[in-house]
Amino acid sequence: MKPTFYITTPIYYVNDVPHIGHAYTTIACDALARYHRMKGQQVFFLTGTDEHGEKVQKSALQQGLAPRELADRVVTRFQGLTPALEITNDDFIRTTEPRHYASVQDLFRKSLGNGDIYLGEYEGWYCTPCESYWTDLQLVEGKCPECRRDVEKRKEPSFFFRLSKYRKPLLEYYERNPRFIRPESRRNEVIAFVEGGLNDLSVSRTSLSWGIPVPGHPGHVIYVWYDALTNYITGLGYPGGGETFDAFWPADLHMVGKDILRFHAVFWPAFLMSAGIAPPLGVFAHGWWTVEGQKMSKSLGNVVDPYEMVATYGADAFRYFLLREVPFGLDGDFSKKALVHRINSDLANDFGNLLNRALGMLGKYFGGAVPAPSPPGEEDLSLIALAGEVRRSVDAAMEEVEFHRALAAIWDLVKAANRYVDASAPWALARDASKRERLGTVLYNILEAARICVLLSSPFVPAAAQAMWEALGCQGEVAKAILSDAATWGGLRTGAELPRSAVAFPRIEA
Ligand code: MSP
Repeated sequence: MKPTFYITTPIYYVNDVPHIGHAYTTIACDALARYHRMKGQQVFFLTGTDEHGEKVQKSALQQGLAPRELADRVVTRFQGLTPALEITNDDFIRTTEPRHYASVQDLFRKSLGNGDIYLGEYEGWYCTPCESYWTDLQLVEGKCPECRRDVEKRKEPSFFFRLSKYRKPLLEYYERNPRFIRPESRRNEVIAFVEGGLNDLSVSRTSLSWGIPVPGHPGHVIYVWYDALTNYITGLGYPGGGETFDAFWPADLHMVGKDILRFHAVFWPAFLMSAGIAPPLGVFAHGWWTVEGQKMSKSLGNVVDPYEMVATYGADAFRYFLLREVPFGLDGDFSKKALVHRINSDLANDFGNLLNRALGMLGKYFGGAVPAPSPPGEEDLSLIALAGEVRRSVDAAMEEVEFHRALAAIWDLVKAANRYVDASAPWALARDASKRERLGTVLYNILEAARICVLLSSPFVPAAAQAMWEALGCQGEVAKAILSDAATWGGLRTGAELPRSAVAFPRIEA
């Protein structure tokens, strides 16, 4: 196992407040960061905001603010997601910070120095909302192929990055690193795109002022994607990063939405190769959420506010839903009905009840003190074996970034433990004094299965997991547990005094 793990979210535009899409990427990264910490790796988890460019400048103008003022206001809404969604990022980068200016200018200078960045003139169809130039061929019925809005012809002096030169090196990199772009279907899309040939990329603007100046060319500011992508190395202290940079770069995973995969899987590794820096090891593109069957948009008024979700349902439930409902990588549909259903059925009924039934019986039959188990019988052995299998399935699923599969595996154990309760009928054993030892073993096993479920689910539902962890008499923070020791059967402390109930997942009344 690699000793370190570096994971990043995209940096979010500050022209608007956060919605479910931003929350989704950040939560997915957080679950992975937490899981990798539990594997014993040293994790660096970076998120932040993308504050330069036309979008932000325009939005600020509309609100009568300077771009920096707008950024200062909106950034707090993104930073606030950390406590609200129980996010454990190690740093938060803003592209307007001096450390980022130094980093971008250094990277730019390297490619300018070796001729990979050169001065030319750019002409094309420009779409302002998308901040993209398009060629004649790319336009759809004369409109922007991405947002279908009007475009305008523009011409300006511009620095170009010699992306065309990197077609072959990129294809070789994809070939040598089959897990660089995931999921697989996205990988094929990117390869086909690069095989089709790459045009040099305009990386500066003279028409824009809200950005990082090109070193030595004061009329130019660096174009948004060159600026934005570089955040991933700034966060590690580039260009002077020393130990942190050496320990964590290349990044293990850049998590992105499918719409921005190309920037991460094509442009970014090329910028780095040119500067003599190793490309990242992985980029994963997730799908998009619609809301109640419709595209999410301000005009439809159906934008899902993560703060509102947390206030109504709690952060754990929201996190669980987003990562359980839809296979990670595919598009999905959000609805309150589906969310409430998941909360009541998976969290309250399956998981919450398992723990509460166990604690209730422990209180009733053993005064709340965890009994020592006697050697397991056959029914016990199959539960114990399943716990081991689930642990391995969760690990395999997390390596593949398949949260839905990891959670499904954990719930296999939750459900098996509930069936074990029914099959071993502790209430019947309790009526027969000669079965007291067996009763103790059964209760121990139920609680131990619950403990392992708590441990494995903690990257997804961290606050509830901590509460359940404590209710099970386990010490310290579940987030600090190391799976290789803690997930082994038999970790539950005998003799510990446990409460008679614990409400980790309240039911939501419709
Ligand atoms: N600033 C750029 C990223 C630069 S990274 C070097 C950007 N910002 S963004 O704020 O517009 O979007 C950030 C992320 O939110 C993207 O990964 C995007 O895919 C994601 N989502 C935006 N809407 C979404 C949904 N409706 N559903 C899921 N994710 C969505 O792009």
